[in-house]
Amino acid sequence: MNDYIFDTGSELGQDHLDHLGRLLDTPTTWRLDRLGLTADMRCLELGAGSGSIANWLAARTREVVAVDIDTTQLYDVAPGVQVHRYDLRDGLPVDGPFDLIHARLLLLHLPEREQLLTRLVDALAPGGHLVLGDITGRPLDVVAVPDPADRDLWEKIQHLSHHVVSPARGVSWTWARETPERMTAAGLVDVDVMQYSLTSAGGTDGCLLHRNLNQQAEPLLLAAGATQDELTRYRALMLNPRFRAWFYELLYTNARKPA
Ligand SMILES: C[S@@+](CC[C@H](N)C(=O)[O-])C[C@H]1O[C@@H](n2cnc3c(N)ncnc32)[C@H](O)[C@@H]1O
Repeated sequence: MNDYIFDTGSELGQDHLDHLGRLLDTPTTWRLDRLGLTADMRCLELGAGSGSIANWLAARTREVVAVDIDTTQLYDVAPGVQVHRYDLRDGLPVDGPFDLIHARLLLLHLPEREQLLTRLVDALAPGGHLVLGDITGRPLDVVAVPDPADRDLWEKIQHLSHHVVSPARGVSWTWARETPERMTAAGLVDVDVMQYSLTSAGGTDGCLLHRNLNQQAEPLLLAAGATQDELTRYRALMLNPRFRAWFYELLYTNARKPA
């Protein structure tokens, strides 16, 4: 069984990935750019989603292997990107060594994250970089609401999403903060962390992503105790420009295998 909550191959799945690209490709490419990418590098992009980062890497390096359990949205990849449909809970579909391994918003979803981390460290070339970006469980505090009752609605849906539905499917909201220690324990060096965090208003990518995730997880949220009326009001709130809340805090942890 695939524990992953969302359906990457669906239309909502495509919108989900498009929102992520618009929200996060800028901090991701900023982070990757500062590692000193070179044209001879072999890269592994895991949970590749829409392929936006695989394509960005392909323009700067020699080879990119892009892996996802559902490759439906990887239809427009650059020459130099090899696509593999593979369940990463079973390990890696290709052998290393890789000079760069990157995964964004993947390991927090996988209950087997510790075993995968070990495999990624094994697959790194000496001196190679591991770069993992995951979001934390920091509360998504409200900044502005059109009506005081909207705050309670927002908090109820966040509670069900983050404390009931997603943990039952193996999501870890502590993994992002644990990653530096795990990388050090796995023998990596030069461990460094970047934090990225913005607020998001109704009708913009952050709130549209919340709305999208709420639609994709509807059966799970109803089973967890949300009502259909609450879901309808929440989705309308996510379109209202008078609503604003903190968006997820993204932590990027990167480290190197000793040369
Ligand atoms: C939240 S999305 C992130 C996509 C992309 N990395 C980004 O940040 O835009 C998680 C991705 O991991 C993929 N995924 C989930 N479980 C997986 C598994 N067991 N093996 C490989 N890929 C998986 C999903 O299909 C999806 O594309």
